[in-house]
Amino acid sequence: MPAMASDPKKTFVLVLCSVLLMLAGLARAGNFYQDVDITWGGGRGKVLDNGQLLTLSLDRSSGSGFQSKSQYLYGRFDMQLKLVPGNSAGTVATFYLSSQGSLHDEIDFEFLGNASGEPYTVHTNVYSQGQGGREQQFRMWFDPTKDFHTYSVLWNPNHIVFYVDGTPIREFRDREATGVAFPKSQPMRVYASLWDAEEWATQGGRVRTDWSQAPFTASYQGYAASGCTSPDAAACARSNSPWMYQELDSAGQDRLRWVQTNYIIYNYCTDTWRFPQGPPPECSAK
Ligand SMILES: *[C@@H]1O[C@H](CO)[C@@H](O)[C@H](O)[C@H]1NC(C)=O
Repeated sequence: MPAMASDPKKTFVLVLCSVLLMLAGLARAGNFYQDVDITWGGGRGKVLDNGQLLTLSLDRSSGSGFQSKSQYLYGRFDMQLKLVPGNSAGTVATFYLSSQGSLHDEIDFEFLGNASGEPYTVHTNVYSQGQGGREQQFRMWFDPTKDFHTYSVLWNPNHIVFYVDGTPIREFRDREATGVAFPKSQPMRVYASLWDAEEWATQGGRVRTDWSQAPFTASYQGYAASGCTSPDAAACARSNSPWMYQELDSAGQDRLRWVQTNYIIYNYCTDTWRFPQGPPPECSAK
């Protein structure tokens, strides 16, 4: 018999520890009933499995969507998504953060569907003070319709990082010194939606949505948000939570370079047609 089990005190401590770990795990995993509101779609958005799963569906008359109950100024946000399988042409699933108002800030993941067997496009963008147009698009190194994968946003005063399964795919650093606004003062909510954009989403609108396949469904689970929910922006800026200081270590930088070399399919920074006078200032700043 192991020595530990013979000591009732140690056994008690072990049991207590595992119960606490379990509770911490549950708190982190989140619950859609507690964390979000389904805001549109007339019943097309559904919370299932005791709040662990949320499905959004789309048909010819409507898509659907939800938003977080809390607003955050800085934080780390994870969502697991399983995208519309098969012929998903024209459909767009999203997971993004946004503030309110016309000079709003926004951090976007959008998943552009495709014809059966053709790859999804993962589209990212960052808006600051109402100014966007900072698109980077990627292919994934897996089929995002087969299983759940984790898509994350880290947002702190130094940078915004987009992650896929823990691999950083894009970093947008604070370049306010070059005159480019960085999201710093407007709290954001987390949003997700499934909608139709057949006019442009797939192969520039050449491949339309096949409505005979409707309803289309995307699934969300494992939502975890840890961010500053205080209405006091100065207090959030002083927060000493780990995500406030998180930087890419050298392994993370290597992974980022790997994705930016092998999986990027569009980068506004290198779009000389859009920017004949040279890329926007944040692209070249060191
Ligand atoms: C869809 O597949 C085609 C052909 O592989 C590809 O060119 C395109 O980028 C894919 N994604 C979208 C959203 O059109």
